[in-house]
Amino acid sequence: MADTDLSARVEAVRRFSRFYTRKIGVLREGLLGSPFSLAEARVIWELAHREQATASELGTELGLDAGYLSRILRGFEERGLIARQTSDTDGRQTIITLSRSGEAAFARLNTQSQNEIAALIGALPASAQQRLVEALGTVEALLGEAPAAKVPYILRPHQPGDIGWVVHRHGALYAEEYGWDERFEALVAGIVAEFVAKFDARRERCWIAERDGQPVGSVFLVRHSDTVAKLRLLLVEPSARGLGIGQRLVEECARFARRTGYAKISLWTNNNLLTARAIYAKAGYRLIKSEPHALWGAPLVGETWELDL
Ligand SMILES: CC(C)(COP(=O)(O)OP(=O)(O)OC[C@H]1O[C@@H](n2cnc3c(N)ncnc32)[C@H](O)[C@@H]1OP(=O)(O)O)[C@@H](O)C(=O)NCCC(=O)NCCS
Repeated sequence: MADTDLSARVEAVRRFSRFYTRKIGVLREGLLGSPFSLAEARVIWELAHREQATASELGTELGLDAGYLSRILRGFEERGLIARQTSDTDGRQTIITLSRSGEAAFARLNTQSQNEIAALIGALPASAQQRLVEALGTVEALLGEAPAAKVPYILRPHQPGDIGWVVHRHGALYAEEYGWDERFEALVAGIVAEFVAKFDARRERCWIAERDGQPVGSVFLVRHSDTVAKLRLLLVEPSARGLGIGQRLVEECARFARRTGYAKISLWTNNNLLTARAIYAKAGYRLIKSEPHALWGAPLVGETWELDL
C-alpha cells in the first residue's frame, strides 16, 4: 500500500476521532450533575457487571495504572460506594464489591447514560440506528477483540416501574407456562404492595436483574422475624434463562441474609417448578414440608424449603 494512501486514511480516522470526542464531550457536559469522572464511571460499571473483583482484575480489564486505580477505589471507599473483604481462597487478595449505595449510584448513572445515548440516536429512523450499530460493530471487530461481557447482566435495587413489572411478568409468565389464573397475579400484587409499604432497607431487599437496559429477573428477601427471612418472587424472563441469573439471585439473598444477621431463609415454592427446586437444592436448601392446594386453578403441591445460614 502506498504511504500516501495510508496517511489519507490516518487523517480520516483522526478526523473521526475529533468529531466523536466532541460529540461525547457534549454528553459529558450533560453529565455535569453526575459525581463521577469518566474513569470512575468505567470502574463502577465494571464492578456492577461482576459478582466480585480484585483490584488487579479491574486494572487489567480497564488498562488503568495501579496508582490511579487505587486512588479511585480509595475515593469510592470514603464515599461508602464499595466494600472490601479478604478473599476466602487467597488471603493475599482483597475482593471488592459495590455496597448498596454503590449499586444505587450505578443505577442512576446507568439510567442517565442510557437516556443520553437514546437522545443522541433516538432522532434517527430505526434503519439508520441499525446501520450505526453495525458500523460500530465493524470498528470494534477491526480494532480489537470484541470484548464479551463476563456477566452480560447487572443486578440492581428496585426503581420506580419495577414493582409493576414484577406483578405483570409474574401474572403473564405463570399463566403461559403453568396455566395459573389471575388470582396468582393478585397474590403477587399483594406481596409487593406489602413489601413497599413496610420496606426496611437494613434487613430487606429487592434485586432486579437488568440486561441491555431491560428488567429480566427479580427476587425479594423479606423479613419474617428477627432470625428468619423469606425469599420470594424469584423469576427470570425466558429470554434470559440459563445464564446463571436465577442462581445468582438466590446466592445474593443468602449473602445479604448472612450479613444482616438472619439465622435462616425460608421459601415457599411448588413441586412442578423443577429448575427453581434444582437451584434451591444446589444452594443448600432442604425440603421441609409439602401440601397439595389448588389456589390458582390447577392442582399443585406447595413446598416449604429452608436454608440454615
Ligand atoms: C427458576 C428460574 C428463575 C431459573 O432462572 P435461570 O436464570 O434460568 O437459572 P440459572 O441459569 O441460574 O440456572 C439454572 C440451573 O438449573 C439447571 N436446570 C435447568 N432446568 C432444570 C431442571 N428441569 N431440573 C434440574 N436442573 C435444571 C440448569 O442446568 C442450571 O444449573 P447449572 O448452572 O448447574 O447448569 C427460571 O427458570 C424461572 O423464572 N422459572 C419460572 C419461575 C419460577 O419457577 N420461579 C421460582 C419460584 S419459587
